[in-house]
Amino acid sequence: MVDSLIDKLREKVGGYFSSDASGHSIDHLERVLKYALYLQSKEGGDIVVIAIASFVHDVHRIMGNEKKCFVSPKDSLEVVSSFIDDLDITEEQKKHILYAVEHHEEYNFGDGVTVSDIESKIVQDADNLDAIGAMGIARAIRYCVAKGFPDYIVDVPLYRNAYNESKEDISAVHHIHNKLLRLGEYMNTNTAKKIAMKRNKIMEDFRDAYIDEMNGIL
Ligand code: ADP
Ligand code: NI
Repeated sequence: MVDSLIDKLREKVGGYFSSDASGHSIDHLERVLKYALYLQSKEGGDIVVIAIASFVHDVHRIMGNEKKCFVSPKDSLEVVSSFIDDLDITEEQKKHILYAVEHHEEYNFGDGVTVSDIESKIVQDADNLDAIGAMGIARAIRYCVAKGFPDYIVDVPLYRNAYNESKEDISAVHHIHNKLLRLGEYMNTNTAKKIAMKRNKIMEDFRDAYIDEMNGIL
């Protein structure tokens, strides 16, 4: 059931996401889907809502690329609806998918959980799992290359404790230290937290090795 729904969706959204160079191409969606299904198997929740929402969560990013400005998840809901409209699921499930997409970026560092339903929590966690670990490092570097940012700037301190979500990190290593290494602590589910701890080690080792090598330390 879920497989055939996703197959149908894949046909529809594949082309839409194929042009993205900012880290939201179809392979990101495929991984977020896999993570979301794994988290669902451990934590529960409506598998249909979780699978579909995780596969269409980044429509706003493609709209933003096209419009060359920020488009919020809320502003993407009409397009998301057009992708899921003819799927054989209940109206209730469609509404729930739109809710999970609308709120998937509203996790905040330490200020409490922003969604209370397990489906939205899992979509947030699955998306954040793909932002960390080896893939997180690769995506951060790719993002910086696309934006013209460097891998690292020696003179600028890493400022993790005063992290400002609205202020863009100036290098990949800064982003890894300032933001990505914090995501694990604020995962919604214990299953995602455990995976994140393993992935944090990879990012910490990379950050430390990069800074040492940058400074010519053997
Ligand atoms: P998503 O929407 O999938 O959660 P974002 O749009 O926030 O992710 O970011 C896309 C990718 O680019 C992520 O892997 C993220 O870590 C990376 N990224 C975002 N901002 C920066 C930055 N300032 N420096 C380096 N990488 C960044
Ligand atoms: Ni995403």
